[in-house]
Amino acid sequence: MAVRPIRIYGDPVLRQQAAEVAAVNEVVRRLIEDLRDTMHAYRGVGLAANQIGALERVLVVDVPVEGERRVELTLVNPVLSEPAETNVDEEGCLSIPGIYEEVRRAARVRVKALDERGVPVDMVVQGYLARAIQHEVDHLNGVLFVDRLSVLKRQFLKKSLEALARGERPEGYEPPVAEESSP
Ligand code: NI
Repeated sequence: MAVRPIRIYGDPVLRQQAAEVAAVNEVVRRLIEDLRDTMHAYRGVGLAANQIGALERVLVVDVPVEGERRVELTLVNPVLSEPAETNVDEEGCLSIPGIYEEVRRAARVRVKALDERGVPVDMVVQGYLARAIQHEVDHLNGVLFVDRLSVLKRQFLKKSLEALARGERPEGYEPPVAEESSP
């Protein structure tokens, strides 16, 4: 188990397409553990493998649903279909610190994937869980939430994004200390 550094906007790995996982083996399970540890250390609600520099189609989410309840999921090779209705809500991204914007996404979507044991799952998700999964699947395709904003919004954010790409960080940005990758 290890907390790994999160790649920030401007890092080319965030623009790459992650590859299908052939089998959920020991190596993939270690990647899943690192994703979970890293997501929790950064207090995120989701993380895709690209964000820690691994180009494999693996994502984790840990999303508050109602009251105290949270849903934690690992999805390997996720495929989305049957998007239904849309809504708008605020999103941020651990790879784009300091930027939060409203994004329109499907309110409900069907997800087929493998879980962390390699068992097929097929479910319809909605609400913030549906949003988080769509956001993370975008990452696996090299897409960032800022790509989904209007031209005007993106123009407005251009300078902040360029600053991130140059290595500048928003005031108060203090990522958790990363550890060595698991042996
Ligand atoms: Ni993100």
